[in-house]
Amino acid sequence: MDDSPREDLGLLVRGVLDYAILMLDTSGHIISWNAGAERIKGWRADEIIGQHFSVFYPPEDIAAGKPERELETALAEGRLEDEGWRLRKDGTRFWANVVITTLYDDAGRHRGFGKVTRDMTERRAAEQALRESEERFRLIVQDVVDYGIFMLDTSGHIISWNAGAERIKGWRADEIIGQHFSVFYPAVDIIARKPERELETALAEGRLEDEGWRIRKDGTRFWANVVITALYDDAGRHRGFGKVTRDMTERRTAERTLGERRRLVGHLVDAQEVERRRIAWDVHDDSIQSMVAVGMRLQLLADRLPEEHREGVRALDESVRAAVGRLRTLVSRLRPPDLDRHGLVVALTGHLEESLPAWGLDYTLRHDLTAEPTSEAAVTGYRICQEALTNVHKHARASRVEVSLSTVDKGTLFRVTDDGVGTAVTGTDPGRDHFGLIEMRERAEAAHGWWSLASSPGAGTTVEFWLPSAPDAQP
Ligand SMILES: Nc1ncnc2c1ncn2[C@@H]1O[C@H](COP(=O)(O)OP(=O)(O)OP(=O)(O)O)[C@@H](O)[C@H]1O
Ligand SMILES: [Mg+2]
Repeated sequence: MDDSPREDLGLLVRGVLDYAILMLDTSGHIISWNAGAERIKGWRADEIIGQHFSVFYPPEDIAAGKPERELETALAEGRLEDEGWRLRKDGTRFWANVVITTLYDDAGRHRGFGKVTRDMTERRAAEQALRESEERFRLIVQDVVDYGIFMLDTSGHIISWNAGAERIKGWRADEIIGQHFSVFYPAVDIIARKPERELETALAEGRLEDEGWRIRKDGTRFWANVVITALYDDAGRHRGFGKVTRDMTERRTAERTLGERRRLVGHLVDAQEVERRRIAWDVHDDSIQSMVAVGMRLQLLADRLPEEHREGVRALDESVRAAVGRLRTLVSRLRPPDLDRHGLVVALTGHLEESLPAWGLDYTLRHDLTAEPTSEAAVTGYRICQEALTNVHKHARASRVEVSLSTVDKGTLFRVTDDGVGTAVTGTDPGRDHFGLIEMRERAEAAHGWWSLASSPGAGTTVEFWLPSAPDAQP
């Protein structure tokens, strides 16, 4: 009864593979050896029992008397723990965690030492890798200049500072560490308790993002994007906050300038359309009507005149008719009446029929519109197609053009493809000097759509653009 737990324990010790468990006599000679010891150190029990345990130590430790010192310490203090290099039978080294315990029998006599060794090589390598990666990470954070990255303690005082923070905000680390981070906020924000509220939110929600004005050391302002993250240690204790700040001043200015320019272009384009339509209607209702009336009178007059004058008046009538024809063409170029009356497809068909055969180009128009574009989108789309087709005529040396319209993403996708010589001008940025391309892109973007040109020399050109059917649809 009494023996069985002891036997079990013996079995357990002998069988354990993860730990080398051995006994030394009082002088340090090995008297027992388990399976783990064989696995970790390489010797079989019959090879090692009886040898002195200093065979596990590298020569420099032996020269320094370390094995003996460890036994002395274990004897004096009952126990000793050490980490260091040890040798295997084949001479290779492993990183060992060693615990030596002094053993006494029931009578209190010193009987030797128990020694438990673990192979920590992998763990050590992993820890070292982690340390190195943390160190590298720390160095990156330290040197990043595009972002201000720093830490606050739980009450909001600055405890670390990187190069980016110095560049963006102007303070050196030694000037700012220890101060409260509210120094970065304008007075109105401080009165409104914004810094404190931001920490409270970050703590409650884990993270907070904000954009707003912040103050540099010299008192100037910059437009900042700020992310505050609550930081916890492994035990789950709140340790402070990480703060990442970007200077968005330039981006903000650029976006505003771009927005203003877009609005201006949109306004000009609208004004131009209104003006064209007004001129078209004036010419149509006034000039053309009166000239048609003149033509009719000339005809009546010609009928009543004697033979010798009749031909002259008829010729006059002819030239009035020709002028009316030219004015009609002018009117339809200024503002194709079909666009208002019959919609985009009819107007585009009219334009294609009228122009392309005259330019010696074959064409197809494909459309599967499930929704009619708004009248603004129709005008914009018509104008961009007009310019794209004019470019095909002027530059492409193509034999055919395909125009296609389809309803995509709550808007209309237009494509004008030719089989011509192509161009090196490509992408979404047409460059500075090509105003035809720039105008197409600006028109599309002013209508909240997008525009692009794809081409390569020799391979034809595709102008593709999309216009939303409602101003708030997103591409
Ligand atoms: N379909 C096309 N095929 C080949 N080259 C093209 C095509 N479309 C445009 N290009 C090239 O792109 C250039 C820029 O076109 P863009 O319309 O901006 O200017 P443009 O037609 O020369 O002058 P405009 O300001 O009168 O339109 C053209 O000069 C031409 O070289
Ligand atoms: Mg052009």
